[in-house]
Amino acid sequence: MPADLGIAEAASVLRAGGLVAFPTETVYGLGANALDAEAAARIFAAKARPSFDPLISHLADAADLPGLVGPVPPAVAALAERFWPGPLTLIVDRPAVIPPIVTSGLDTMAVRVPDEPSARALIAAAGVPVAAPSANRFGQLSPTRAEHVVAGLGDAVDVVLDGGPTRCGIESTIVDARGAQPVVLRLGALPVEALIEAVGPVEVRSGSSGQPVAPGTLAAHYAPRTPLRLGAADGDGGRRGLLAFRARPATGDWAAVEVLSPEGDPTVAAARLFDALHRLDAAGVTEIVAEPVPEVGLGRAINDRLRRAAATWR
Ligand code: TXA
Ligand code: MG
Repeated sequence: MPADLGIAEAASVLRAGGLVAFPTETVYGLGANALDAEAAARIFAAKARPSFDPLISHLADAADLPGLVGPVPPAVAALAERFWPGPLTLIVDRPAVIPPIVTSGLDTMAVRVPDEPSARALIAAAGVPVAAPSANRFGQLSPTRAEHVVAGLGDAVDVVLDGGPTRCGIESTIVDARGAQPVVLRLGALPVEALIEAVGPVEVRSGSSGQPVAPGTLAAHYAPRTPLRLGAADGDGGRRGLLAFRARPATGDWAAVEVLSPEGDPTVAAARLFDALHRLDAAGVTEIVAEPVPEVGLGRAINDRLRRAAATWR
């Protein structure tokens, strides 16, 4: 249902332990009451998500954080103050009211305040923190439109709020600012450059490994069903599809081409990334060739996702 009309009904579904998919400025989330272990379990079931991959809890307002978790370290508070509402997820200690299933047994919790009016209205109306991973089946492409949610999760969701395409198009940046120097655990829609400008040097530890610091940042993730390879557009594409950064290749014939940003803007490219991949995935091509984008601003987060998508197919 349209996001603005469905809020009251969706909020009561959340309070009753149901699942609501809702738009945020990053990607669509699959929400459940974060205080309700059974509701959280439904998220893991609907996504076929492994139980070791913890969820992000969403609040309506930054002012709600101390009430939920108590005092936070000054650097965490400073980042929340500077970037919330917005595409930044912060790591805090898990309070006792949040059941361990939400954090996959970790004694820390990921939390953020989304910058999307309907999401904040929904969370406020529900009156509880809302645990929400991206609203896709585990390991697959993230949803940036309500249609992607319906196609991927269908009947596993009680309500889908449709707020149109999301503004950022890639997930939030995850930062653990509890220690001496903030650590970026996942590159995302808030560029590292903006973090550095606000708090000084940060460590980026979002590389892939079998035992990642953010357990969900697995080497293989964000994958289309069609095999994907990172590389340049080489000659004739034949039955292959191309995810191009700025332009169609001057020569060569491709079965399908998606151009992310003719003006060469990585922020625009990020907003279009998953939608373009969903379309290429539906185009019936034999392989998707994805051009890496320049490693500046959101370009780093885009390449990070393309590498993980490609790793699924190696
Ligand atoms: O933009 C976003 O963050 C979206 C929207 C819906 O808010 N959500 C999202 O959730 O991307 P998900 O589940 O797809 O990714 C959550 C990431 C996972 O990599 C998970 O491992 C990490 O957050 N995470 C959650 N709790 C954590 C914790 N306590 N410590 C470290 N990483 C954590
Ligand atoms: Mg996800």
